[in-house]
Amino acid sequence: MRRLYGRDFVAVILAAGKGTRMMSDLPKVMQELLRKPMLWYLLDTFRKMDFHKRLVVTGHGHELLEKKFPYDKDDFIIQTEQLGTGHALQEAWPAIRDSGAQWLIVANGDTPLVSDQNLDKLISQMISAGADLGLLSLRLDHQSGYGRVVRDKAGRVRAVVEEKDYNPQLHGPSSAEVNSGIYIFRVSALAEVIFDLDANNEQKELYITQLISLANDRNMHVLGVSAGNCPELMGINTPAELVMQEEYLRSKIVDRMISQGVIIRNKDQVRIGPEVRIEAGADITGPCEIYGASFVGSGTRINSHCYIEDSSILDSEILSFSHIHKSDIKEQTSIGPFARLRPGTVMEKGSKAGNFVEIKNSSIGRYSKVNHLSYIGDTEMSQKVNIGAGTITCNYDGRNKHRTIIEQQVFIGSNTSLVAPVRIGERSMVGAGSTITRDVPEESLAIARTRQENLIQKNPLKKS
Ligand code: UD1
Ligand code: CA
Repeated sequence: MRRLYGRDFVAVILAAGKGTRMMSDLPKVMQELLRKPMLWYLLDTFRKMDFHKRLVVTGHGHELLEKKFPYDKDDFIIQTEQLGTGHALQEAWPAIRDSGAQWLIVANGDTPLVSDQNLDKLISQMISAGADLGLLSLRLDHQSGYGRVVRDKAGRVRAVVEEKDYNPQLHGPSSAEVNSGIYIFRVSALAEVIFDLDANNEQKELYITQLISLANDRNMHVLGVSAGNCPELMGINTPAELVMQEEYLRSKIVDRMISQGVIIRNKDQVRIGPEVRIEAGADITGPCEIYGASFVGSGTRINSHCYIEDSSILDSEILSFSHIHKSDIKEQTSIGPFARLRPGTVMEKGSKAGNFVEIKNSSIGRYSKVNHLSYIGDTEMSQKVNIGAGTITCNYDGRNKHRTIIEQQVFIGSNTSLVAPVRIGERSMVGAGSTITRDVPEESLAIARTRQENLIQKNPLKKS
């Protein structure tokens, strides 16, 4: 059961940094894991936990983020100069204060995979201890790049010291415990210390982590909650860390689905996005990618080398090397091998799209078949239609797109061009090789090709 937090909780995501170590012009939180930007994950987790407000401090490339997250952008706060994580929090302070919330959760935007279980743990320990400031820590074999958690003999957290500022003479031998960059504050306590930050450190920045020492100086209660050796809490600063976290998430999603009854063969090569829903009884073979808001129903079999995005598939067979985007596939259909379904395709029950078939913005009626080498665009095809090999809908005249209507039980001979707009009436036939430019009435035979003539040759080629 997920716990819901409501109006006593406000969250801030720190996401203004450029992410220099990523070596990319893209703002770091726009980098994707399984085709979702990093920032999407924290926003999604915080939304599901029902934090009353989800503020995001943006800076580098904020316009891009506003475009990508139109529903969240009203709660974006722009930090024009990136003077450090503490400064980012100061920029958000007026909005935090005005939210009226009692508790504040802060997370680095580059730690997208923190689970609600770990957040629940931090929040519940914080509340039951009646503490003022809490941080989630983790243990790492290689702590490079992280702030070290410094505890006193009684085990209380005294400070977080950045790697560059760490001095064993001052801070003691460093332990493997590091700061995850996820914090909780009692808002009234934060009010007392937030503007006391200074930049007296190696990087000349305002560190959010200095708040821990400042809180201790004022005898506030600081709590360190250790999540142990927990890969989900690792930050993403470099391309290597990005693909490592993506791989962690990928295998977690795949394993969860297998435990829920989805058969996933060659599972290390199957990539499934965080929003995809797959029912028990579906059977998938890797390599394969399924992203976006896709749904795969029970009984569906997806063979290797398929790419599926924002599509729904019910109890069907997808043969190898098929590419399916924004399409709706009903029961008992067969797609591929080597089929491409582009946005707006609807495959009704029992229909078929065979090898080297491209379909776009079209509905293929019940039990209709487009078996080989065809392009069907902007077409409304009724039931039990048979489309011969090599049939092309000529839907574009260079300026506008036009529709083709194919009524029920029509038979289109091979290598036909249907020049839209055009309608083929029910139970009609079109002769192979025709170029159809006018409507065909129902129950007729249309042939539009030059008649074959066999001429007698006066001087036939000599047999060699
Ligand atoms: C930070 C912590 C470190 C912790 C680590 C965990 C500080 C000083 N250090 O280090 O203790 O172990 O995270 O991953 O906080 N940001 C802004 N505005 C700024 C600077 C940064 O919004 O002016 C954002 C960044 O976009 C990023 C996050 O804050 O999402 C953390 O910044 P980053 O530079 O990655 O901090 P680390 O060096 O990783
Ligand atoms: Ca970081």
